[in-house]
Amino acid sequence: MVEEPDLDLSRRLALALDVDDLVAAVRMARMLKGHFGVVKIGLELYSAAGPEAIGAIGDLGYEVFVDLKLHDIPTTVAGASRVIGSLGVSYLTMHAAGGLDMLRAGVDGLRTGAGNAGLSEPAGLAVTVLTSQSDPSGGTLGRWVELAAAAGCTGVVCAARDQAEVDRHGPGLARVVAGIRLPGDPADDQKRAASPGEALAGGADLIVVGRSVTRAADPLAAADRLHRAILGADDNPTHRRD
Ligand code: C5P
Repeated sequence: MVEEPDLDLSRRLALALDVDDLVAAVRMARMLKGHFGVVKIGLELYSAAGPEAIGAIGDLGYEVFVDLKLHDIPTTVAGASRVIGSLGVSYLTMHAAGGLDMLRAGVDGLRTGAGNAGLSEPAGLAVTVLTSQSDPSGGTLGRWVELAAAAGCTGVVCAARDQAEVDRHGPGLARVVAGIRLPGDPADDQKRAASPGEALAGGADLIVVGRSVTRAADPLAAADRLHRAILGADDNPTHRRD
């Protein structure tokens, strides 16, 4: 049976709602309220529903994490960030690979957009080496983390196993960890997946969980299992639909 979710834990869990239909997204977000404090709107849902998705998810009481992984010239990133900053979101991602000026432009855009709308400033997050890529080499991760810190980003998105290095290069940065799998679930396209417990034990401020819950045969039971896995009380495999 589904137990009472732990609300302190929920605040550190972001649900990646990677679907192409806002009605389906809202239905799932409503069902999983309590298990997650944050909903991540990624490229798929944003392509399908745009800013309307931000409003609909925010209206359910979630913090909204817009994962557009912006990567363009600084002027373009500043413009897009200004718009997103005015919509009442809590997080926006941009690629560290875009460089210092681009990251700065993104952070400034978020601040301007939020300020113009009378909202508090969203966290600008720099995406480092994707969890779908193999282990970084040649100092890429460290360089990108330093860029994120220098640009004024609030944090970075990284793999669970990258957290110690992130901490060495950017000790004040928040860590958002993606590529999370419940034990027994397929890794799919994630090459550097980790369990939720590993990610949080490594110091993650926020973990992003998608398919382990959204593609489960019973997403509510999977979300419950996620909580139990973190709290050390898991005993049940999740059955995926795909
Ligand atoms: O848990 P699952 O693998 O389904 O979640 C993947 C989600 O996290 C996707 O929305 C993907 O874009 C995002 N993401 C990621 N790796 C990163 C940054 C974001 O998988 N480094």
